[in-house]
Amino acid sequence: MSSSYEARVGALAGGPKIDLRSDTVTHPTPAMREAMYRAEVGDDVYGEDPTVNRLEELAAETVGKEAALFVPSGAMGNTIAILTHCRRGDEVIAGDRSHVYLYEVGGAARLNGSAIRSVPTLADGTLDRARLARAFQGEDIHEARTGLLCVEDTHNMCGGRVLPPETLRELAAPARAHGLPVHMDGARVFNAAVALGLPVSALAAEVDSVMFCLSKGLSAPVGSMLAGSRAYVEEARRGRKLLGGGMRQAGILAAAGILSLTEMVDRLAEDHANAKTLADGLANIPGITIAPETVETNILFFGVRGADGQPGDVTPLVTAAASAGVLFSGGDDGRIRAVTHYGITAADIDRALAAVAEAMKAPVKR
Ligand SMILES: Cc1ncc(COP(=O)(O)O)c(C=O)c1O
Repeated sequence: MSSSYEARVGALAGGPKIDLRSDTVTHPTPAMREAMYRAEVGDDVYGEDPTVNRLEELAAETVGKEAALFVPSGAMGNTIAILTHCRRGDEVIAGDRSHVYLYEVGGAARLNGSAIRSVPTLADGTLDRARLARAFQGEDIHEARTGLLCVEDTHNMCGGRVLPPETLRELAAPARAHGLPVHMDGARVFNAAVALGLPVSALAAEVDSVMFCLSKGLSAPVGSMLAGSRAYVEEARRGRKLLGGGMRQAGILAAAGILSLTEMVDRLAEDHANAKTLADGLANIPGITIAPETVETNILFFGVRGADGQPGDVTPLVTAAASAGVLFSGGDDGRIRAVTHYGITAADIDRALAAVAEAMKAPVKR
């Protein structure tokens, strides 16, 4: 990095970091910390933690399912969902850019002998319909049986794209035709609901089970929920124990989760507005490639134009921005990801844009 670059961004580098790597970096709100301090607790594995019980009831009611289970993480929630829906060895159909396929340590295969049959994910976060229709199998004795279809809403790797209820219904149709259940990785389904102006229950109604995270945009320090029918959630409780996710006085954590659901949902609109401003601003910086019209929620991807007009190496830009105090994630697939969240203000977005503009002026190799 050149010293002239350092000189230009020096003023930015001194301030607090603007962390746009993920919405998982959110800290609990002051009200959450207070509620955690005061939380009434009991042994949740005995079903005796009143605060966890209250969170589970509230979550079930909010997503319009009979019951919900508090789990330590989104990945554990998705894995329990698979263990609960599928017999051992059943296949799971999921998109080839889905979190459950790419980033959950192969849990379905390792823990349930369930291979994931991936189908192409389209740019809008949906699945290739023809390939999806052909992915269901099991009638022939040579084939593993399909046990489950997983969809993701919003879609992380597609840039926070929203799948509305009618799209979910269409994707679920072939599973329904085969009499199979559908699970939603709804890590950010509240972002989808806010973007659509719908209650989250309108999205959850299209699937049999939904996992959503309290610990991302909803700002709780720890925890996700898995919701479905009462019988399903009772069986999932066994799966949680199997995976070592039975926590004891977890009301300390659930207290924050309750505030996630009662106080942190509507404000997601602010994160979406900030993401849009960031996308529009990035589109005006020479050398940046982005499609701002595809930004619907709090996640966006962008890249740099290489000398030959092809996608350029983004690593120098990520490094330069970081040294100016602006953190993005990325690089490995040639894209940079930015995620807006609680704690990121409109002023931070201006600072982030200034840092990128400076970095693009600097003689960084692209
Ligand atoms: C779409 C999606 N699903 C699931 C998860 C897993 O959540 P956790 O990090 O709580 O395990 C993530 C995490 O980023 C995610 O983006």
